[in-house]
Order: sequence, then C-alpha cells, then structure tokens
Amino acid sequence: MEKKIAVLPGDGIGPEIIKGAIDVLQVIEAKFDHSFEYNYANIGGSAFDEEGTPLSDKTIALCKSSDAIMLGAVGGPKWDALPVSSRPEQGLLRIRKELNLFANLRPTKYFPSLAPASPLRQEVIENVDLMMVRELTGGIYFGTPSERTTIGGKAGAVDTLLYTKEEINLVLKKAFEIAKTRSKKVTSVDKANVLESSRLWRECATEMAVQYPDVKLEHMLVDNAAMQLISNPRQFDVVVTENMFGDILSDEASVLTGSLGMLASASISEAGPSLYEPIHGSAPDIAGQNIANPLATILSAAMMLRISFEMEQEAQLIENAVDAVLNKGYRTKDILSADTTLLTTSQMVEQVKAEMMAALETV
Ligand code: NAD
Ligand code: IPM
Ligand code: MN
Repeated sequence: MEKKIAVLPGDGIGPEIIKGAIDVLQVIEAKFDHSFEYNYANIGGSAFDEEGTPLSDKTIALCKSSDAIMLGAVGGPKWDALPVSSRPEQGLLRIRKELNLFANLRPTKYFPSLAPASPLRQEVIENVDLMMVRELTGGIYFGTPSERTTIGGKAGAVDTLLYTKEEINLVLKKAFEIAKTRSKKVTSVDKANVLESSRLWRECATEMAVQYPDVKLEHMLVDNAAMQLISNPRQFDVVVTENMFGDILSDEASVLTGSLGMLASASISEAGPSLYEPIHGSAPDIAGQNIANPLATILSAAMMLRISFEMEQEAQLIENAVDAVLNKGYRTKDILSADTTLLTTSQMVEQVKAEMMAALETV
C-alpha cells in the first residue's frame, strides 16, 4: 500500500523520538511491501524560528493532503515569553482545530515487565487496560474570551469553558462505540457538582447510554476519578471526559505503565487524516541528549498503522517487538529499575527494529 505521512517533529525531544518512529516504520515498509512517503514540516517553536509562526498555512495544507500525521512534541522555555499567538502550543491547538480532531484516544495498558518502574504497587496496576477518550477541540482550551481583563476594577484574567451538545455527543458516541469493542463500560468523568457544562455533559451521556444497552455507563466526578485512577485503576475500561480533565488524567494514567514516555495517542476526526503523537511534551530537561524514551512515539506509529491504514498485522509486529524488548530488560532512563539495562534513545530503537526483524524471520 502507498501512504502519505506528514511528519512534524517539533521541539525538544520531538526530533529524536520521531526519528525512532520513522526508523521503525521503514522496517514495516521494507518487510510488507508498503511505500510510505514522508513529508516533513515545521510545528511549534522551531516553526516560529523558521517561518515566524508556530503553524504555517503550508504545514496545514500538507497535513490536510496526507493520509496521516505523525507529531513529536512542541514547546520549550525558549518560546515561553512570546505573545500567546506565537507560542508553540498554539500550533498544536490550531492543527487539532483545523483538522477537526475532536477525539484523542490515549490507551493505558499494563506492561508486566515495567511494574518495578511504577511508583504504584504491582497488585494495584496489574492487568490495567483502559482507554481514555479526551475531547480535543472544545472546552476551556478554545473558549473566548481568553484574555487579561479588569474584574471589579482589579487586574485579572478570564478563560471561558464552552461546550455545545453537538460537541459533547460527538465524543461520547466515539467512547460508546469503542466500549462496544472492549469490556463494555464507559466512565464519564465530569465536575457536575459545580460546572454547568459538566451537568450538560452528564445529561448527554445518560441520554446516549439508552442507545447502547450493552454498555454500562458510570458517572464519576473528576476529583474522585483522579484518586480512583491510581488506587483502583482496573475498574476502568473506557474513560471519556472533556479537554482539560482528559489532559490531566492521562498524564496521571501514564504512571500506571511506569512512565509518561510509554503513552501513545491518536487524535481522530469524522473524516480526513488522523494525527498520532505521544501524550508527553518536548521534555526540554532531557532534549538533545539521546536519552528520551522513544516507545510512546513508536507505539503511536503502531496506532497509525492500525487505525488509519488498517494494517493490523503490522501494528501488532511493532507492539510485540516493544513487549519483547522490555521483557529482555532493555530500558531508557525513565523506566530503569534494578537488574535492567540502560539504553540510549537510538539503541532502544535499534532493539525494537531487531525484534521486529527476528519475529519476521521465524514465520
Ligand atoms: P513534558 O511531558 O515535556 O515532561 C514532563 C517530564 O516527563 C519531564 O521530566 C520529562 O523529562 C519527562 N518525559 C517526558 N517525555 C519523556 C520521554 N519520552 N522520555 C523520558 N522522559 C520523558 O512536560 P513539561 O515539562 O510540563 O512541558 C515541557 C514543554 O512541553 C512545555 O513547553 C509544554 O507546553 C510542552 N508540552 C507539549 C506537549 C505536546 O506537544 N503534545 C505535551 C505536553 C507538554
Ligand atoms: C498534550 C499537551 C497539550 C494539551 C499542550 C501542549 C497544548 O499537554 O497534548 O497533552 O494540553 O493538550
Ligand atoms: Mn498534556
């Protein structure tokens, strides 16, 4: 199969981890007779430096004309003082909005061999398998006004949390559909005891559940969910929530796997290309040192093969190789524990490629 992939490495560790994922995809191409065309473009701070904007129209056009998009990460202290519209994060928010990527799927699965890397006890995290469905193009991230203002004569700031029923229903439907293919439970997370938008969200979820009699719906307040996620995570199957709650809870969920460097994601729309990226950021503290964990990005590439290209066998080859490498005790610094072997980013990528090759030779 021939596919066009827009590749947006971004900032910080972005280029290092994206290189790892592309190396792995090249093994897939060679071994399965696929041809992927990689078209590189700027996003984030590096785009601002080169093009004067964190996301140019050229990059948007490239993404829209591609079959899928792979993204590294954006942001860093170098650009933190820029005016809002020039900030790297605006590039990410804009690409999500331009492509109508309304749902961000963030799977969290237990890796048995990584149990010692998690600060949580093994009996708590064992067999965790949950899918966070985060609303991605609405809520407080996109509401206006969002600005400095004067409140009762005093200097202040305002952000606005807005949701239409249509936006809520779109992401809820996705969550219910996903639950049908899994353990048939949806936990809808909100703050309905305080926020009107959450009360609307809860109403929509209750209404939608009627259409999915085989799926069990549960509502949970976000503060409780934050606690339950690390005390009793096995209760969750699909978790659906609004944009900011999903951002926070998914970083928290990554601790169940051992590291933020393990969590992949897919951002999808109703039609058009989807975008694949790790959930973590540009990790400025470790950028340029070849020590970042590339596995979240490699696993995002596997999600791309499965979801956008319907290449299930190829996706599994990557996922199995990641499991095999971890089982052999190979680790980047963030998941290091006793009796394991420390690798650099590029060494980790080489191990994943070697496992893929070895697996293909035995069939
Ligand atoms: P971060 O996710 O970049 O880093 C948090 C911590 O996790 C750091 O200690 C970092 O070293 C570590 N970490 C993250 N990814 C890792 C990996 N692959 N391997 C090993 N360790 C890893 O979050 P932050 O420090 O709060 O933010 C840094 C910048 O990234 C900010 O500018 C922020 O806006 C941006 N950011 C971007 C995205 C994105 O592009 N999707 C996501 C989150 C944050
Ligand atoms: C993420 C990031 C982004 C978000 C930022 C960088 C805008 O934290 O992808 O999770 O909050 O969505
Ligand atoms: Mn985040």
